[in-house]
Amino acid sequence: MKLSENKATLSFSNGSPSVELPVYQGSVGPDVVDIRKLYAQTGMFTYDPGFLSTASCQSAITYIDGDKGELLYRGYPIEQLATNCDFMETCHLLLYGNLPDAADKADFTKRVTHHTMINEQMQFFLRGFRRDAHPMAIMTGLVGALSAFYHDSTDINNPEHRDISAIRLIAKMPTLVAMAYKYSAGQPYMYPKNNLSYAGNFLHMMFATPCEDYVVNPVIERALDRIFVLHADHEQNASTSTVRLCGSSGTNPFAAIAAGVACLWGPAHGGANEACLNMLEDIQKMGGISKVGQFMEQVKDKNSGVKLMGFGHRVYKNYDPRAKLMQETCKEVLASLGLENDPLFKLAMALEKIALEDEYFVSRKLYPNVDFYSGIVQRAIGIPVGLFTAVFALARTVGWIAQLNEMIGDPEYKIGRPRQLFTGSVRRDVLPIAQR
Ligand code: CMC
Repeated sequence: MKLSENKATLSFSNGSPSVELPVYQGSVGPDVVDIRKLYAQTGMFTYDPGFLSTASCQSAITYIDGDKGELLYRGYPIEQLATNCDFMETCHLLLYGNLPDAADKADFTKRVTHHTMINEQMQFFLRGFRRDAHPMAIMTGLVGALSAFYHDSTDINNPEHRDISAIRLIAKMPTLVAMAYKYSAGQPYMYPKNNLSYAGNFLHMMFATPCEDYVVNPVIERALDRIFVLHADHEQNASTSTVRLCGSSGTNPFAAIAAGVACLWGPAHGGANEACLNMLEDIQKMGGISKVGQFMEQVKDKNSGVKLMGFGHRVYKNYDPRAKLMQETCKEVLASLGLENDPLFKLAMALEKIALEDEYFVSRKLYPNVDFYSGIVQRAIGIPVGLFTAVFALARTVGWIAQLNEMIGDPEYKIGRPRQLFTGSVRRDVLPIAQR
């Protein structure tokens, strides 16, 4: 963080003395006005619900240029990473700051692979859930419960604990998601297989049964790996900020990541992929493409409460670059499975075309986001709709952990404690109950 020569001056109309605020420059992106001393100097807070104009931290991990539609992990464009690197390389990059060479990759992959098993006792914990529990409810519980099983890696201030918990979380998330799925399907859990890739192993744990050999389809394995790469990090979004805020109290990494899982569940965030597929299925039931116009009218009607799920983004005011890559993967997967004429894919393309030409969407700069096509890919792979957000959580875990570890290592790190503009009752006295 570099101090700019530029300074901001804040003046007040009531004659209070103006204050000079330092301005810092990042390596790219908007400068920030440092308001840390504002309260001490003026007795005032700033007001920014939803953090529309607030940088909550400095970070060197992920950069988004929302106007250009650009996403960089540690400086590398997402398009290059999605095309040239796999998820293990991406994890290494996000966690340690550099793309691994072949030896580093082999070493990192081996470390992750050897932590994929879960303490056997976790099965009994899982059995406490109803079979029809939402997978994200199960995931919030299971991830939080890891802190009860891995006592040797819960000290967030110990760098070795942080590293081993990072590896454990990345390694165990696919096992947990697959266990949640098998539990709901009433099938036996499949133990991880160390000779498979990260994505291949997840497919095996999801779809293999003890009765038959399961062969991983390489097209699906690649598609899933790409889903993981595209979802791996996205700077200070709601769930990442939740992880940072939760971790800022010094809680253990498993608890902080469980908080991230809980936040991701919401339909405005990670839950959008599930909501988007449900929306496509609803339109399909209404009559499909012929009803798109009618549906769009509802979306544009503020009183209807209907949103075009998978569209719009707080940061992207252009095409989400992940959505383009996801659309490409979607075509590949559908073609390899002989589903080129998939009606939901056709419907999604029709909706996208209409929205991109419609004044409502154009004027608000609403474009497809990553969730618009990811649900169609996951559905084609055989992942049930209710599990989509859990797959997102699996992929985002590395980003959460990288951001959490970055925060702990930051000398400016403090417990997060926002302030408020109080609008409630001023001091008053409690009356005896008979007089109220
Ligand atoms: N459909 C219809 N109208 C929309 C949509 C949409 N999907 N998204 C935004 N708008 C309208 C909104 O009503 C508002 O209109 P007006 O200015 O007339 O009041 C305008 O566009 C600006 O929207 P906003 O709600 O102020 O934007 P935001 O930055 O607060 O919200 C968002 C961003 C992602 C929550 C929102 O676009 C949304 O709810 N999208 C649908 C859910 C979705 O796909 N979420 C996934 C996000 S990407 C994956 C992830 O990071 O988790």
